[in-house]
Amino acid sequence: MKHRFFTVLIIGSMLFSSCGGVRLKSYEKQDCETLPGQATLETIENRCMLCHKGDFATVQDICERKDLIIDAVETGRMPRFSKLTQQELEIIVTWQQNP
Ligand code: HEC
Repeated sequence: MKHRFFTVLIIGSMLFSSCGGVRLKSYEKQDCETLPGQATLETIENRCMLCHKGDFATVQDICERKDLIIDAVETGRMPRFSKLTQQELEIIVTWQQNP
């Protein structure tokens, strides 16, 4: 069981290094209406940047993917090979609107 986990990890990292990261280009962007709050930004930086450096390069980029990001974490599709804590999930889903 432990073995399989590492195999997935190794194959996964080979895939990413060979294609230079993920690109969300094929997904439609939305208009940026609400910028993510600081906590949401930090959580995305910690948990998503490993694979989505290019996709989420600026706050604007993240903002234009708001609905997609929320949907992906809510359904558990993302982060790939990992799982957010309940707290991290809430921080992203609520988009942490700081006053
Ligand atoms: C281990 C690498 C990895 C991590 C970490 C990761 N992703 Fe992804 N992500 C991928 C890959 C690979 C794809 C493209 C494959 C696909 O479309 O299912 C993808 C696709 C997506 C998509 C578009 C497809 C969909 O299912 O909606 C979104 C949105 C997304 N990621 C958001 C995120 C967010 C938000 C995080 C952090 C919470 C995150 N990802 C963390 C690897 C990763």
